[in-house]
Amino acid sequence: MELKGKHIVLGISGGIAAYKSVHLLRLFVKAGAEVQVVITPNGKEFITPVTLSSLSRRPVISEFFTANTGEWHSHVDLGLWADAFVVAPATASTIGKMANGIADNMLLTSYFSTRGKVFAAPAMDLDMWLHRATQRNLATLRADGVEIIEPEAGELASGLVGKGRMEEPERIFEVVAAALASPRQLKGRRYLVTAGPTYENIDPVRFIGNYSSGKMGYALARALGEAGAEVVLVSGPVSLPTPEGDIRRIDVTSAREMLAACEMHFPECDGAICCAAVADYAPAVCAEKKVKREKLDRITLELVKNPDISATLGAMKKPGQTLVGFALETDSEMENALGKMKRKNLDWIALNSLRDKGAGFRTDTNKITLLSAGGGTTEYPLMSKEEVARLMIEEIFISK
Ligand code: PMT
Repeated sequence: MELKGKHIVLGISGGIAAYKSVHLLRLFVKAGAEVQVVITPNGKEFITPVTLSSLSRRPVISEFFTANTGEWHSHVDLGLWADAFVVAPATASTIGKMANGIADNMLLTSYFSTRGKVFAAPAMDLDMWLHRATQRNLATLRADGVEIIEPEAGELASGLVGKGRMEEPERIFEVVAAALASPRQLKGRRYLVTAGPTYENIDPVRFIGNYSSGKMGYALARALGEAGAEVVLVSGPVSLPTPEGDIRRIDVTSAREMLAACEMHFPECDGAICCAAVADYAPAVCAEKKVKREKLDRITLELVKNPDISATLGAMKKPGQTLVGFALETDSEMENALGKMKRKNLDWIALNSLRDKGAGFRTDTNKITLLSAGGGTTEYPLMSKEEVARLMIEEIFISK
């Protein structure tokens, strides 16, 4: 992949995986990128600035000032210069500081000044990775728009075996290059995305819902926005911030409300991705007052079928519009997904199975098989939902 003319800041923090950053740097340089290395004081314990400056053909920045000349290194200029800021390895400490606004070294001040896309490839010991504080900080960074390139499982420097090994440089390179190589190809296009669950009220305080967090749908909206598209994001009840970009968010609660918003906006769109986990059934009536448990030992809820939003859009679809659905399965995956694609008149369907660990509801990762009505099948490995989203957008709307 070509990165000619792209500016990348490679931030290296102090972990044993810093040796892999040398290879990552070489991959960026070989692809034509200009790379500025910023290393934390601890990072220099693991890899020497001489190696890094020879390969990047630029002096490595570590301190706020160059000691002998007193020259000040402007983190603001660096932040504006960078098309991408890649922190690899990102230690637990650096992740914690990035998540909590602590700017006590040049890598961190540069991060806080960066306007381009930020990637972090964590590397740490198994228990540090699993620690609630680390996971909390990673969730904050994801919400801030940082793409976390998940570590791999394997043998760690401590001798323990588990998740924490920094992802291989080739893979980090692919993720960053894919993000930089698709600049705004969808400018002038508008897409509808449904995301999250729907809630179907039983009474004023209770509902029928499901475990969808909205993460997959929001990642799709973000990826479309990053590719330059205008997005109408019809969202069920979730606790996620609206992704940055040209994204108009319409909050709905029930399947019927979601359908009304989709029917209104789909005609002006070039396509739609139905990622929401829509409740298939809703209570036939919603009690006006809270149902009191003291009065009833047993209650029977009568449920009625909800409208099928994607099938409705499939019936409305005009030539030139692309309709994409998801299939969330627990068994007979392929057969069910193909059946849904046909019945709902979809052009593509992304199959995810709850039998795959790390896929489906609430996780930060997903594993999909992308099927096209034309008969194409692409199986992707487990990846972050951001990566899945970017690859789907690339495959369906950009490279077709
Ligand atoms: O939100 P996350 O926690 O990140 O989880 C992501 C996800 C698991 C919700 C997502 O990846 C996913 O699989 N979404 C679709 C879930 C679903 O409802 O699947 P389904 O197989 O029941 O539905 C098939 C398709 O029909 C989907 O595109 C769905 O949006 C659509 N549908 C279903 C029922 C209905 N009444 N109207 C619909 O439009």
